[in-house]
Amino acid sequence: MGIDLMMSPRTLAFLFSLTVLRFTVVAGICGSSEFMCESDKKCIPALWKCDDHPDCDDGSDEKECAPRSCDKDTMFKCHNGTACIPIRWECDGEEDCDDGSDEDSVLCAGKTCTTEQFSCGEGQMCIPATWQCDTSKDCPDGSDEVNCETRSCLAEEFSCANGQCITVRWYCDGDNDCGDNSDEANCAPPTCPPGEFLCSGNATRCIPEAWLCDGDIDCHDQSDERGCTSTPGRDQTCSNTEFMCANYECIHKSWKCDGEVDCVDGSDEVDCHVNCRQDQFTCKSGNQCLAGYQECDGVLDCYDGSDESPDICPAETQKCKDDEFDCTLDGTNCIPLSLVCNKINDCGSGEDEQKALCRAEDPCLLDNGGCDHKCVNTHRGLQCSCNAGYELGEDGKSCTDIDECKISGMCSQLCRNTIGSFRCHCVEGYVRDPNNHRFCKVAGKEPHLLFSNRYDMRKVGLHSGTYHSVLDKLKAAIGLDYDYLENKVYYTDVALEQVMEADMIEGQVNNRSTVLVKNSVNTPDGLALDWIHKNLYWTDTGMDTIEVLSLSTKYRKTLFNTDLDEPRAIVVDPRENQGWIYWTDWGTHPKIERAGMDGSHRSIIVKDDVLWPNGLTIDYMLNRLFWVDAKLHTIGSSDLGGLHHEVILSSGHYLKHPFAVTVFEDWVYWTDWETESIHSVRKFKNTTHPNPVRNSVIGLQSPMDVRVYHELKQPKASNRCGVSNGNCSHLCLPSPKYSEKSASFSCQCPNGMTMMSDGRTCLSPVKAPPVLKKNTTATENVPVVSDHVEPITEPAGSSDQQVGKIAGIVVGILSALVIVAALIGFFVYRSLMRRNIKCLNFDNPVYRKTTEDTFSLEKNQYQPSRTLPPTLEPLTSGSNEYV
Ligand SMILES: *[C@@H]1O[C@H](CO)[C@@H](O)[C@H](O)[C@H]1NC(C)=O
Ligand SMILES: *[C@@H]1O[C@H](CO)[C@@H](O)[C@H](O)[C@H]1NC(C)=O
Ligand SMILES: *[C@@H]1O[C@H](CO)[C@@H](O)[C@H](O)[C@H]1NC(C)=O
Ligand SMILES: *[C@@H]1O[C@H](CO)[C@@H](O)[C@H](O)[C@H]1NC(C)=O
Ligand SMILES: *[C@@H]1O[C@H](CO)[C@@H](O)[C@H](O)[C@H]1NC(C)=O
Ligand SMILES: *[C@@H]1O[C@H](CO)[C@@H](O)[C@H](O)[C@H]1NC(C)=O
Repeated sequence: MGIDLMMSPRTLAFLFSLTVLRFTVVAGICGSSEFMCESDKKCIPALWKCDDHPDCDDGSDEKECAPRSCDKDTMFKCHNGTACIPIRWECDGEEDCDDGSDEDSVLCAGKTCTTEQFSCGEGQMCIPATWQCDTSKDCPDGSDEVNCETRSCLAEEFSCANGQCITVRWYCDGDNDCGDNSDEANCAPPTCPPGEFLCSGNATRCIPEAWLCDGDIDCHDQSDERGCTSTPGRDQTCSNTEFMCANYECIHKSWKCDGEVDCVDGSDEVDCHVNCRQDQFTCKSGNQCLAGYQECDGVLDCYDGSDESPDICPAETQKCKDDEFDCTLDGTNCIPLSLVCNKINDCGSGEDEQKALCRAEDPCLLDNGGCDHKCVNTHRGLQCSCNAGYELGEDGKSCTDIDECKISGMCSQLCRNTIGSFRCHCVEGYVRDPNNHRFCKVAGKEPHLLFSNRYDMRKVGLHSGTYHSVLDKLKAAIGLDYDYLENKVYYTDVALEQVMEADMIEGQVNNRSTVLVKNSVNTPDGLALDWIHKNLYWTDTGMDTIEVLSLSTKYRKTLFNTDLDEPRAIVVDPRENQGWIYWTDWGTHPKIERAGMDGSHRSIIVKDDVLWPNGLTIDYMLNRLFWVDAKLHTIGSSDLGGLHHEVILSSGHYLKHPFAVTVFEDWVYWTDWETESIHSVRKFKNTTHPNPVRNSVIGLQSPMDVRVYHELKQPKASNRCGVSNGNCSHLCLPSPKYSEKSASFSCQCPNGMTMMSDGRTCLSPVKAPPVLKKNTTATENVPVVSDHVEPITEPAGSSDQQVGKIAGIVVGILSALVIVAALIGFFVYRSLMRRNIKCLNFDNPVYRKTTEDTFSLEKNQYQPSRTLPPTLEPLTSGSNEYV
């Protein structure tokens, strides 16, 4: 299927309606390619109107249907009735017509695979050609993974013993990049430059000698803190809000005995005994309480893993099913109930045919015993049961159809209930996973995980596991996003305090980035690209702002600088009927907020059940938000209005310190600073069995932000500002779809400029725009500024005397204020920190700059980093109530 087909408006309509079906969020407004049910105003895909299958609860979608013909090129007409289905569902191995005529054996026998498909064999199924040789078996016989050439590595790559290719630079760098350690075998003994210390162990790391015995673990194997005779901090004291570890480190008092190791030597978790309530489970360590249901629920919740240890979680005792007879009363010999009293010895020792059990006459012989489906004469009397896909009514006799589509996650995407069963469909661009027909897999190019780890940016194939370096030689890359169509990657660097842009070059490592923003940037954390209107949004935890930059005009605007404490992750939703940005704030009042992409309609959408919401992402398929919380150790999810909140996963083991999150296909992926890995779990909560957590990429060094790199992560939409920048003089930003009549965009002014009454033109309050050269031919729409307009920070070298004077006075007052504020800040800082500057580094984002050392980034990477937001109550054992 053509790539350009993938996100047609029809597909989008599908996606939206899908959500509306599953989580009825918006009632009363249906998209143009949707049909509104009469009674409950629910929206369904227009495609489902008059398809012989009632989808509205009142059946109004099947009323007033004219006989219709299906478009021959794109649709298949089911034989009985008038239903049309997409032609790609014909002969795909699953019945999509109610009468199954799309899988008719005669019809499908002669069908061959298209050129974009791989044939699993004569008369077998077709799979997307890109799935061939991607290391996951998709054909029933695995024929798509035989005769695959192992990829030969490029010149600048090292071939691992296991066939992986890695960048040559990773050879002998102390990290196990191949996965089998073959890149670290046979390496010359490493050496460090003078003045640096070589960590022992496998990881070749050089650290400044000053970091030896300083109470921080800097080497993976702690060799820098071993055998220390004198600890520099021996004569230290800690403030009275702090606890002194055995190694003289100071940590916040409330972190003692809270179940998490905070002192490097673990001394804060020794001799701790909390009294768990009766309804709680006490972890083996004795200092952590869990909710009772977390014991033996298949998810590791205690930091020591004791809630799932085999000693206390017995293997499930065997039991016979409800419709089985237990011959030996211990669950080891079960036979179907229908074999009881059939005059044949089925148990082996005659237990099923005992006189006392078997009655003379069979009540099922009369009118099937009154049962709708099956009737069984058991020793307990007559018992009715239902065929698969039905459930027994309360009367114990009638059978009613189970609506499987009401169970979240039965199908990844589209679900249609049928009597006795259900069918899953995938939207365009996706194909049913041959190994599990309930799941959808993307059909086009292989999706990749793109992630930053401070020093470089890497890409890992989600199916094949191939590993590539994308960007190299970075200082401290944290937030990242990309433009799929333009092959560009954007990232923030908290050491350089800049927002950067770089090209993604296929098969090559790029080491050149260009600076997009450098003024008034402090700690840019989260980054999100509006790939439709080419605007870049970021959060700045240092300046406490949310900012936007137009990539085409380079105009910049601070959208928000109030009520922000620790803004972190940000995501955008530029689709046609959306137009929102969402961001997290893990500060004193932790929350998830949203606002229009033009800064209008700001509101808090989640404030309960979040403490350190570090990562945030949107699933454009389900229209839901997903976030990771590093304090609660959870993955949360809600709809786009912050409602219908769910905890997808709660685990102190896999979510020790999650940082970023992304979602694609059926999976949520997240990076974690402590496990130094990317794990994934199914995005639908399973209410009966916890979903297993998968290792996606393990053994990373300081993984930061992560994105799934695939074209379907950036669905197409029309540019609301058109070709003329919406006729705005400076910034054109999309407005949120708030009501049916909402404007689609608004003109905005860069910092320091004001909007004229026409709502389109911005003027500088000082003079005419100083950025335009006098004899430039450029119009106002094509400015020649290189970075951004910032007339406030520097008093313009104006010839206007008065303005100069006023500016002077203002600057004077401001300077005085700044000095006073700085003094106050200094004393507050002093009293808070006493003489222990390290405590600063225990902040949730460890890369926060401290005043004293630019190395804090480097220094804290293995710390169990965390902070205590000042107004939060100490979260000791009580915190488990949240977990
Ligand atoms: C179509 O319906 C008729 C009558 O209901 C039935 O006999 C026939 O088998 C159906 N055809 C298919 C392909 O299911
Ligand atoms: C070093 O790597 C080897 C090979 O993978 C492994 O067996 C060994 O345990 C590692 N040593 C340390 C100290 O991690
Ligand atoms: C929940 O998990 C069980 C066991 O793995 C599985 O059989 C069931 O289909 C899952 N439910 C959903 C809705 O995915
Ligand atoms: C960057 O890459 C180019 C070629 O890809 C190479 O010639 C150059 O030396 C690299 N620069 C640095 C600083 O590594
Ligand atoms: C910009 O102005 C032109 C001419 O007035 C008009 O035709 C066009 O529709 C305007 N564009 C937008 C996006 O408003
Ligand atoms: C415009 O600038 C160019 C050089 O950039 C100069 O040669 C020219 O004289 C200027 N024209 C006017 C009208 O100032």
